[in-house]
Amino acid sequence: MKKEIWAIGGGKGGTGKSVLSALFATHAAGKKRKVILVDGDLGGANLHTFFNVSPDQSSLNEFFEKKTDLKDTLIDTGVSGLKLISGDMRSFNPLSVKYIQRLKFYRHLKQLNADIIIIDLGAGTGLNTLDSFLLADKMILVSTPEITSIENLYLFVKKVIVRKIKDMLSYEGFRDIDKTILKSVLSNQETIKFSDFIELLKGMGKEQEKIVTDGLGEIQINLVMNQIREKEFSKYGISLKNILKRHYNINALFSGCLDYNDKIRELVNGSADINSVFQIDEIRPSIDFISGNISKGSDVNFNEL
Ligand SMILES: Nc1ncnc2c1ncn2[C@@H]1O[C@H](COP(=O)(O)OP(=O)(O)OP(=O)(O)O)[C@@H](O)[C@H]1O
Ligand SMILES: [Mg+2]
Repeated sequence: MKKEIWAIGGGKGGTGKSVLSALFATHAAGKKRKVILVDGDLGGANLHTFFNVSPDQSSLNEFFEKKTDLKDTLIDTGVSGLKLISGDMRSFNPLSVKYIQRLKFYRHLKQLNADIIIIDLGAGTGLNTLDSFLLADKMILVSTPEITSIENLYLFVKKVIVRKIKDMLSYEGFRDIDKTILKSVLSNQETIKFSDFIELLKGMGKEQEKIVTDGLGEIQINLVMNQIREKEFSKYGISLKNILKRHYNINALFSGCLDYNDKIRELVNGSADINSVFQIDEIRPSIDFISGNISKGSDVNFNEL
């Protein structure tokens, strides 16, 4: 099986990105895959607490300062086959990580000895987060059924698309685009509907149309609904997927749901560890189902909910 990078984001804080990243990692390690879990939440890293290990505070910093290899920043987690790169660096300013450094980080990450690398992106829609998301093989977004969480996810996808479009615009065929429209869209204060803007880009010529279609086609989102308390909320995943298709023409797959479970709360204060949570009867089959769908690129349908 080819080495894969999974990136987990979602915009809003507290939806369960870290919990799901850690559960996916534990699941993959249980399948005898070599796993590296990356705490990409450079400002507010907390993954190490799920494993009851302390973060190595200087190591990633040292990597960026060229004082150490990335492989030397790996921390043992106590779960066999699963290592962690922790982003907890109190003296570290994530905004100071330049684009080139980020690419270097990815290049080195891909060279590490692993079958799967899972990155917990943390909250927000900073450039770091959007770029890391776009570089991943599996782009995963987590939402709860809360309306603010869904709105944040929707906004996250929009920012991902805008980021992607910015890349495309370096192609000279887009040189003649109306600068006022462009500025308003890129600054997120559109004066035209986003879908009309995409059509406008495509309408600029055959090549332009291909660039936009191919570029947007590379954005393949896997949606996970978390903290489900009532069964009917699980269907939100299907609605969200349909909305992304209709409004942004983005292909999304609904990968599955994880129910709300009190035991998961205990992870945060350290009174439960990830492996014991993973073994819970209501949790393990769900993670198996969601991970399987993400790996295979398959989709949940109504009958499975
Ligand atoms: N399925 C669930 N059932 C119950 N509690 C959950 C569930 N998923 C996550 N939680 C709880 O919700 C809180 C937030 O989870 P988590 O830290 O994974 O979110 P996050 O998206 O990583 O947040 P942040 O954006 O702040 O990094 C934690 O207290 C966690 O225990
Ligand atoms: Mg988190």
